[in-house]
Order: sequence, then C-alpha cells, then structure tokens
Amino acid sequence: MKTIAFLNSKGGVGKTTSTMLTALALHKAGYRVMVRDTDPSGGSSTWAFRAEDGGTPLPFVVDTPNQESLTRGVKANLDFVLIDTPPLMSGTLARRIDEIADVIVIVARPGRLDENRTMDTFDNFDSPRAILINGAKANTKALKELQEIIESKGLSVFDTIVPEREITRNAMGGNSVPVKSQFQEFALELINTTKSLEK
Ligand SMILES: Nc1ncnc2c1ncn2[C@@H]1O[C@H](COP(=O)(O)OP(=O)(O)O)[C@@H](O)[C@H]1O
Ligand SMILES: [Mg+2]
Repeated sequence: MKTIAFLNSKGGVGKTTSTMLTALALHKAGYRVMVRDTDPSGGSSTWAFRAEDGGTPLPFVVDTPNQESLTRGVKANLDFVLIDTPPLMSGTLARRIDEIADVIVIVARPGRLDENRTMDTFDNFDSPRAILINGAKANTKALKELQEIIESKGLSVFDTIVPEREITRNAMGGNSVPVKSQFQEFALELINTTKSLEK
C-alpha cells in the first residue's frame, strides 16, 4: 500500500481536484483506492457528498480522519491511500503526513503568485516529493515563470502537466475522470514513481 499526500499551503491550487481525479484514475486502472480528507472545510468529502446526492456515488471511500486516526492507517486492503489536505495545516498534521506519506505531490498553479508558498511547502517536508503543475495554459508567461523557478531551484517536477480545462473545473462531484484532463496520464506517472522508490 502506498500513501500519497497532495499539498500546498495555498488554497485554490487544485489539491482537492488532483486528489479526487487521481483517485478516480487509479480506480479506473484497477487499483484499490481510498481518499482521506484532512481539510476541516471538507474538500474531498464535499465532492463525495455531491456525487452521492447526484446519484453517481464514488467507487471508493472518502473518510475524514483526525490527527490520531490518520497515523493509525486503514484496515482495508488497499493499493493507494490518497490524502487531501487543508491549505494551512498545523505543524502536527504536517509532521504526521510527512511520517506516513510515501510520496508527496505538491500542487502548483501557474500565475497564482504562490511560487514562494510552493517552495516553502517543498522545503517543509522530507518525504520523496515532486511538484505537479496544475491549471496550466500552454505558452503562457505564468507557466514559463513557474517552470523556470522550479528548474533554478533544482526541484523535482512530474512530467505530466495538467491543463486548465472547463471539464476539469466542472469535475467536482462527478465520478469519472474527464478524458482530456491529463489525470489518467498523471496516475500512470505516479504509479511508476512509487515503483521506482521500491528499487
Ligand atoms: N486543471 C484545472 N482546470 C480548471 N479548473 C481547475 C483545475 N484544477 C482546479 N480547478 C478549479 O479551481 C478551483 C480550486 O480547486 P481545488 O481543487 O478546490 O483547490 P484546493 O483544494 O487546492 O483549494 C476549483 O473551482 C476547481 O474546479
Ligand atoms: Mg481543497
């Protein structure tokens, strides 16, 4: 079982969207998944409730652990546990996530003036981690600037770049991965990343 946490101290960068669409993509690829929502404002759990209310329930469990139950793990037989996180988390929650995560995905959105927050988030954790660029518009200054900062600091970044798309914006509450969202591709890259860590 691999635990993957989606982080950025900035809100609105796409942590919940990335957590949920990656979970749906992993499920579609045949893996047993679960999402743990550690955001008190209820990112992933809101998504799950909407899916249920809309008659398209999610094919996996979304639970809401507290700091204690988070480190106890889950009893189910799973391949991937994905953790959605709040923008501003306590030091305790951050340490616990760092303790249990096999991989940390730092979600960064070009042009949100959050480059420093992204870099701070990167520096504050020790687990194997890489940046996922989400909400990118091709050939824009914002995307280029973010890529340049990442490269100049020598930070790891996933090859998959998630584009800004209307279908992705409207994915909240749905139970399938929008075809052109790039999350199916990202899930495959993530699987390979976790496999390469085992070697
Ligand atoms: N790739 C994307 N394309 C378009 N809209 C996106 C994308 N990623 C996220 N969004 C939208 O941006 C907003 C914030 O995303 P969310 O996942 O809730 O961020 P966070 O969990 O980091 O606060 C939501 O309205 C979501 O639908
Ligand atoms: Mg969220």
